[in-house]
Formats: sequence, C-alpha cells, structure tokens
Amino acid sequence: MRTIIANWKMNPETLQEAKQIWSGTKRVSAQLKRTQIIVCPPALFAPNFTKGQHKKLQVGLQDIFHETKGSYTGQLSPTMARDMDINATIVGHSERRKLGETNELIHKKVMTALNQGMTVVLCIGETYRDNDGAYLNVIREQLMIALANIQRSSLSKLQVAYEPVWAIGATEPMTATDIHGMTIFIKKTLGELFSKDLARTIPILYGGSVFADNAREIVEKGGVQGLLVGRESLTISFIDLIKAVDAIK
Ligand code: PGA
Repeated sequence: MRTIIANWKMNPETLQEAKQIWSGTKRVSAQLKRTQIIVCPPALFAPNFTKGQHKKLQVGLQDIFHETKGSYTGQLSPTMARDMDINATIVGHSERRKLGETNELIHKKVMTALNQGMTVVLCIGETYRDNDGAYLNVIREQLMIALANIQRSSLSKLQVAYEPVWAIGATEPMTATDIHGMTIFIKKTLGELFSKDLARTIPILYGGSVFADNAREIVEKGGVQGLLVGRESLTISFIDLIKAVDAIK
C-alpha cells in the first residue's frame, strides 16, 4: 500500500473552499486500489471531514503536542485528536523546525503520538547540500534523535517523509536517482536504530515540489512508498497525481 499525504499547510482561508478541495479528493479516493490518502487540513477545519473517512482516506493533523492535556495554551493534544476521530499526524515538518522545533522536541512529539496510537509521519530533510556529505549527518541525527527508544510495537504506525528543504516550495523536485540514494541511506540508518528487517517495514515517502506530472517517476524510480504533497494537494491536478500513483503496479 502506498501513502499520499496532502499537506494543506495554512490554506485555504475558508471552510467553504476547504470543503470543495476535500470533496474532490474524496471522490477519487473511492476508486483507489493500492494507495491511501491522508489529508492534513488546518486543524480548525479537520473535524469537519472526519465523518467522510474510510480505509483509503483519512484526516490527519499537521502537528501535534507532546502532552495529552494540561496548561499548554494553544496546543493540540493527541488524545483529543483521537477522540475527534483524527488518527494521524505530521511531526517535524521543516516549516515547524524553522519556527524553532528541535530534534529533541520532535522526539517527544513522536513518542507521545505513537503512544496514543496515532499514525506518525516524521519529516526529515537537510536545508542545503554541501559537497562533503555533511547533509547525511544532518539526516542521520534527525532520525537518531527523533526515533530514540521508540517501542518496536509502535513502528507499524510510523512513516518517514524525506523532504529536502531546498526542494520544498521550489519548481523542481530532487531527481528520482538522488531520491533513491537517500531512501537507501535512510533505510540503513533505520536499520541501525532497529533491525534491518524492521527497517524494511517502515515506509519512506518523498516530499518537495511533487506535482501530477512528476509523481509517477518519483515513486517508480525513487524507491519510495509514497509522497508528501504541499501546493499541488490544493489544486484540481491533485486528482491526476493520485490516479497516476495508484496506477503504478
Ligand atoms: P510543496 O510542499 O509540495 O509545495 O513543495 C511540500 C511540503 O512542504 O511538504
């Protein structure tokens, strides 16, 4: 099964528009054979869509807090999310890291969300590529800290989204060949954290300038089990993107 995450970020501005985008995605989701979609709208809109969920279409959050209740003004509790029938969340998106989230904070969020039984999409990615391979250490450290002491039994709920920050919001994604190289590196690192066999079961997604016309190549040649889509997930072309990925045998 492949996964496509629709990260709407702080868009659109009205519930009415959100409902339109959702219904387009929902329509195509009914025909899917090999793909599940997790739509992550702004948290304020999310509860409006939970009733329409089914096996191939889920609602998720874009971020979650690492405590389940208490004096934390403005935070989103994983327990409350589950109570609202929201069972998935992105953690550690580069736009959150840019606002100050550290690997240590992301680790707490991953732990709590997994303990609460949520599906977690952990985002990792380097901000720029040097010629000496230092970016590999960045990725390694992000994984090692975020996933330290994670119980093996909760790994079935974990997905890792590799998103090179320089390819997010850009015009071109990373090349499929380079994505393939990174998936091997990430699997190897996951193998050090857990076991080789367990590492193989953790889906790796790619994100960063994925559009309807490049999605297929990224999945086929990049060795990824899915995609994390920003801008394109708000447009009508997202339907073509989903169909193109689902058609891959
Ligand atoms: P983009 O965003 O698809 O608009 O590049 C991806 C992301 O931020 O996850």
